[in-house]
Amino acid sequence: MKKNTRTAFIRHMLENERSIEPSPEFSYKALIKSRQDYDEMYHRSIEEPEAFWAQMAETHIDWFKPWDAVEEFDFESDNPYVRYFRGGELNVSYNCLDRHLDGPRRNKAALIWQGEPNEEVDVYTYQRLHREVCKAANMLKRLGVKRGDRVVLYLPMVPQLAISMLACARIGAIHCVVFSGLSAEALKDRIVDSGAKVVITSNYGYRSGKILHLKDICDKALDMSPGVEACVVVRRIEKRTDMKVDRDVWWDDQMAAESPHCEPENMESNDPLFILYTSGSTAKPKGILHGTGGYLLYATLTMKYVFDLKETDIYWCTADAGWITGHSYLVYGPLSNGATSLMFEGVPNYPKPDRYWDVVEKFGVNILYTAPTAVRSMMKDGEQWVNNHDISTLRLLGSVGEPITSKAWLWYYSAVGQGRCPIADTWWQTETGGVMITTIPGAVDMKPGSAALPFFGISPRVIGSDGDDTAPNEGGSLVISRPWPGMMLGVYNNPEAFKNVYFPMPGFYLTGDGAYRDEDGYFWITGRIDDVMNVSGHRIGTAEVESALVSVLQVAEAAVVGYPHPVKGEGIYAYVTVKEGTVINDDLRAELCNHVRANIGPIATPDVIHFASALPKTRSGKIMRRILRKIAAQDTENLCDISTLSEPSVVNDLIQETKRMS
Ligand code: WT7
Repeated sequence: MKKNTRTAFIRHMLENERSIEPSPEFSYKALIKSRQDYDEMYHRSIEEPEAFWAQMAETHIDWFKPWDAVEEFDFESDNPYVRYFRGGELNVSYNCLDRHLDGPRRNKAALIWQGEPNEEVDVYTYQRLHREVCKAANMLKRLGVKRGDRVVLYLPMVPQLAISMLACARIGAIHCVVFSGLSAEALKDRIVDSGAKVVITSNYGYRSGKILHLKDICDKALDMSPGVEACVVVRRIEKRTDMKVDRDVWWDDQMAAESPHCEPENMESNDPLFILYTSGSTAKPKGILHGTGGYLLYATLTMKYVFDLKETDIYWCTADAGWITGHSYLVYGPLSNGATSLMFEGVPNYPKPDRYWDVVEKFGVNILYTAPTAVRSMMKDGEQWVNNHDISTLRLLGSVGEPITSKAWLWYYSAVGQGRCPIADTWWQTETGGVMITTIPGAVDMKPGSAALPFFGISPRVIGSDGDDTAPNEGGSLVISRPWPGMMLGVYNNPEAFKNVYFPMPGFYLTGDGAYRDEDGYFWITGRIDDVMNVSGHRIGTAEVESALVSVLQVAEAAVVGYPHPVKGEGIYAYVTVKEGTVINDDLRAELCNHVRANIGPIATPDVIHFASALPKTRSGKIMRRILRKIAAQDTENLCDISTLSEPSVVNDLIQETKRMS
């Protein structure tokens, strides 16, 4: 589309709020070709869930032993639980690798790796990946890792990350990937909580041309984690690395000695596959526990239908494997389907803002799955960066991580997709394992900004404070009223949290998101309604940042809220009061930021630190976050009722201080 035509198109769409039909060419070739096909399959999945999931599990997954029961759950009692395919036995790495080796997929690219330095590329065929995974599995066994043991993976986006995940799955060890941008403190917390025996890291990493000292960070964490027996180090950069005798070993050295054959363990369907920590409304992140059979089926099925997967597709999910998106849609979903998954170590805007388009052009990418924050940042840089590349191989675009505004949606659709590629918005969570609400491409009409309709087997509802469904277009709390196979099994080490956080109301899984459903039944997600922020698609608990801030000696109190940010979606706004006699200056501000960085990681660094003289509180001493959010958003026209405050003048002071700051 020419720029003028495009601008007119976006304006027209924004003014008319029309839905967009998928193109007949796309629908004709799609796996699900029409709204009617979608409706039929959806109804079957809801009306006869057991028959539906049993059929899907038989046709999509290879089992070593059949199951005794398809679906067992309780959402009502004080001990909610969910189990799929009890008694069934399988192995996830077998499904992702071995079963593809008999036919032509043996020589197909399973993983294409593009390093941050452009010249660093590697391709793993299914056969090669299988051998590497077997070797890594044998290495873990030699290091004493047994079925059920936890292994922490603190790695950048290198093939060894996917290999390690699959190696754990092969021997029945539980992996716990920690995003390589998190700090030593955060890494230590996860190592200790998961009780990991072995940690796999890399000596260094690249980020935007800078070198990350991952081994140094890992050493700090390991100094505080006495339970770890061995640390395997991937040699990412040929550079001096301190190795601790009797604990640290080089990945390459270990692997060289291992055999490329390793029998997969027979795992029961509900044996844990991995733990992934995520922020909630408490200061301590929760270890979300996912199982084997249900999770794999759900990742496999959503991968296939949400991305309309074809045998020849080159599929690129830009998410880091340190998050759930990377688990389900970079590693498990694509490989279980026998697809080609591109793994990219770099960032969208380094060395220049066209890096994504460079990669799409270089490999002929067909499906691109990325986040609204990346779309907004590229929209800001301008479409010339897109236009300089031939990205005509793209046929489908995906979005994940946060609500995509209709403006960003339309830019993605027209500037990147050239009006040709459907967009599948995908709403889901770490806890849900896979996509829950989406725009099945080719089958359903798209509404820019709406996540659209439930995936098969998913029954989302929007309820008000009375527990009843809200009227069309009326906002409420998004809940799910039946289980689905991708659902988390529990919270590691913390069974109470499973009940208290996700099932405070009997009968529903509580998502923590707000939403409304329009007159056509389309879901519109409005964002978190708990104390969780969404910063560039990363989930960060306000309590986590507050707890880091108050651990600084001079800080008396801290209250953290999200505020609208043009690129990040939400920025982090921290109100801080200091102890008597503290000098407020830029040094203190920098110290606070450094402290948060060291405690959590750079992604949690506050964008604004507002040194306040006092915080608004109710008479019972509760901080009024609603008001703090409004002040941070500079939306103070209508602050509602502040009469319940103990000292209403505090609010005025804060407003004046914000004005002075901006
Ligand atoms: C939260 C979950 C799911 C993988 C990435 C994030 C928000 C996610 C969307 C979307 C609107 C979205 C929600 C959700 N979210 N995708 N398409 N539209 N909001 O996983 O870190 O567990 O975060 O991300 O608020 O609760 P996560």
